[in-house]
Amino acid sequence: MQKQIKLVKRPVGTPTYDNFEFVDTHIGEPDEGEVLIRTNYISVDPYLRGRMNDAKSYIPPFELNSVISSGVIGQVVESKSSKFQKNDIVTGPLGWQEYSVAKDSSIRKIDADLAPATAYLSVLGMTGLTAYFGLLDIGQPKDGETVVVSGAAGAVGSIVGQIAKIKGAYVVGIAGSDEKTAYLINELGFDAAINYKTQDVRTALSEACPKGIDVYFENVGGEIGDAILPLLNKFARIPVCGAISSYNNEEVDLGPRVQGYLIKTSSLMRGFTVGDYTQRFKEGSQALAGWLQDGKLQYEETITDGFDHTIDAFLDLFKGGNLGKAIVKVSDIE
Ligand SMILES: NC(=O)c1ccc[n+]([C@@H]2O[C@H](COP(=O)([O-])OP(=O)(O)OC[C@H]3O[C@@H](n4cnc5c(N)ncnc54)[C@H](OP(=O)(O)O)[C@@H]3O)[C@@H](O)[C@H]2O)c1
Repeated sequence: MQKQIKLVKRPVGTPTYDNFEFVDTHIGEPDEGEVLIRTNYISVDPYLRGRMNDAKSYIPPFELNSVISSGVIGQVVESKSSKFQKNDIVTGPLGWQEYSVAKDSSIRKIDADLAPATAYLSVLGMTGLTAYFGLLDIGQPKDGETVVVSGAAGAVGSIVGQIAKIKGAYVVGIAGSDEKTAYLINELGFDAAINYKTQDVRTALSEACPKGIDVYFENVGGEIGDAILPLLNKFARIPVCGAISSYNNEEVDLGPRVQGYLIKTSSLMRGFTVGDYTQRFKEGSQALAGWLQDGKLQYEETITDGFDHTIDAFLDLFKGGNLGKAIVKVSDIE
């Protein structure tokens, strides 16, 4: 038997424990072309909140009473596929459960010699690629420009800021605690950091960005995103990656009208999802792995121990409980 986590009630506002249920079920058996995987690590991500709503988006909503899924690292326990052997370490979109049966086409092996397995859920995984493509393809930071990133101490934001530094930019991060702002400056080499919970963001931004803002990497939306607009330079770029401050809103989130700011500065504001870049994942993965090996990229992970705490780890994302990538450890890799 194994445990799995199902969505049993759609959240209204901030999710609570009664939206989810732990269920005991049998471990499945692989058919031809499938493998049985023991779950080692589960990625918890803000976008999963959107999938809990019954609403059209770039990815279908979770069905009620179905197992929640996200990025997982696991180890092959039994293989009925010529592509995988017992003990291979793999990653793919799998269920929040202790064991999964997966088609061999839906998973891939990871190179655990290059980096620890969890890195494939963080810097070398979906969030690292999001940072890479959103910043470089849309943001296009140039030497000496000012780049501001919100959600800066999180999985995507921390990588965005470091890539911007690699490209020679002056980098300002916005995050929700003094511990996080100190981490950005002292550990990741950001030029300045703002604690949006204790500082007036507009005033702090004008002080931290004396030359205005050329790139704003948007992770949180809301009033933080609004505060950026008056400081945009001519031809500024705004990759819109996320808006976590509004994910639990029950009403439509209204802010200042953006058109005037964009027209006056000829700025580009463009939403994207990492899935837009699937054809270029190899390029992104190679670049991130190269910077990691050269010591130019650092990454942090907040690892919550135990499958029973998966929901806690997910809910913590909305309280700023994580530094770097939020991951749940379910079992050891053997
Ligand atoms: N477009 C894409 O393909 C794509 C892919 C991955 C992620 N994303 C988006 O990118 C953003 C970051 O994702 P991530 O995986 O890197 O998560 P993360 O930043 O590691 O974790 C979420 C962080 O958001 C901050 N936060 C929570 N509520 C907030 C609020 N009301 N106002 C401001 N900040 C708040 C918290 O940090 P503080 O302590 O700083 O508040 C929290 O630690 C999310 O919006 C996510 O949906 C988009």
